[in-house]
Amino acid sequence: MSTTAATRSRDQLLTHPGTHSNVLTGRAKAFIFSDPLSRALLQEIEQVARADAPVLITGETGTGKELVARHLHDQSGRKGEFVAVNCGALPHSLAEAELFGHQAGSFTGATETRAGWFESATGGTLFLDEVGDLPLSIQVKLLRVLQEREVVRIGSRRPILIDVRVVAATNIDLSEAVIAGRFRQDLYYRLNVIRLTVPPLSARPGDILPLAEHFLGVYQERLQTEAAVLTPEARRLLQNYRWPGNIRELENVIHRALLTAQEGVIRPENLRLEGALEAVQVAADSDARAASSTLGAPLDTIAAQLDRLFSDPPSDLLGRIEELVVSRAYAHAGSNQMQAARLLGISRNALRTLLRRFNLITPV
Ligand SMILES: Nc1ncnc2c1ncn2[C@@H]1O[C@H](COP(=O)(O)OP(=O)(O)OP(=O)(O)O)[C@@H](O)[C@H]1O
Ligand SMILES: [Mg+2]
Repeated sequence: MSTTAATRSRDQLLTHPGTHSNVLTGRAKAFIFSDPLSRALLQEIEQVARADAPVLITGETGTGKELVARHLHDQSGRKGEFVAVNCGALPHSLAEAELFGHQAGSFTGATETRAGWFESATGGTLFLDEVGDLPLSIQVKLLRVLQEREVVRIGSRRPILIDVRVVAATNIDLSEAVIAGRFRQDLYYRLNVIRLTVPPLSARPGDILPLAEHFLGVYQERLQTEAAVLTPEARRLLQNYRWPGNIRELENVIHRALLTAQEGVIRPENLRLEGALEAVQVAADSDARAASSTLGAPLDTIAAQLDRLFSDPPSDLLGRIEELVVSRAYAHAGSNQMQAARLLGISRNALRTLLRRFNLITPV
């Protein structure tokens, strides 16, 4: 493999720390963590950043797992690089050489000796994105490296000591992959020492509008368009949409909206959210119903959604619903405990107990 080809193949797999640094402004790199659930996550990241133990980041697509991994590295105090490898894009035949390196002549095409990603991340963090996609044969080798803290390049016998913090991310349920025989249980336990769960955007409604404003700023700057504002209807639409593609979808929606906005105003039609114009109408109708104090409608909606959940119940359904109710009330009340307690019809003490249980405030 020539040097240029090697570099090119690396670039496809790697997201270098400053890949877009020439176009990204300080604002573009900023994180938004406004919702209490996100603030709790931020605190968790900062608490575990300095440990050397592996971290497993789970969350739906587009929730910000890579951003969390980068923040973890920035806060770790580790001087080496943040090296990101997309395990889903690693060709199976090259995965071992890419990760662990190889000696010249160790296989056809290996014309020169090369260090693998593990060595490149020495003193820093190796981010294994989509770790669930690693072939089983590589999983065994990865486990060994994590246990021994040394790598052996293909074609070499000499182990090389490495000091690398491994952070893995997945949007599939690895415990299910273990049951299905697609992921090694021992590796799963090894990676799952510290677990960070990035909630879907719909579970942290307090982030939606701050993120929308943030992306407006980023894309206004990048596209050199005039400043644009969201109409109240557009804001309501964003707030009520389900966001299956999470933050990445929100980012794309704002980008597109800026391109079609007229006279600096973003209206619902500029957002082009699937089925969302009707959703706004439904939301407006249900707001109107709530205002006329017919409590029945929203509770009926919840009952219907529960029936859907019961047909394929997630684990710990009751606990998750309780967490959802508490976190939504807390966000709705702008993190005001008295007000959130009033919304739920419970005492402030009872609320505090729940907030602690769900890590929405730090235990004292
Ligand atoms: N808290 C945040 N503040 C600002 N921008 C964010 C935040 N979280 C995510 N983003 C942006 O949203 C986009 C998606 O984030 P990221 O790539 O980290 O998600 P992911 O969970 O790794 O997605 P996937 O599972 O598809 O790989 C990126 O452009 C990222 O910069
Ligand atoms: Mg990612």
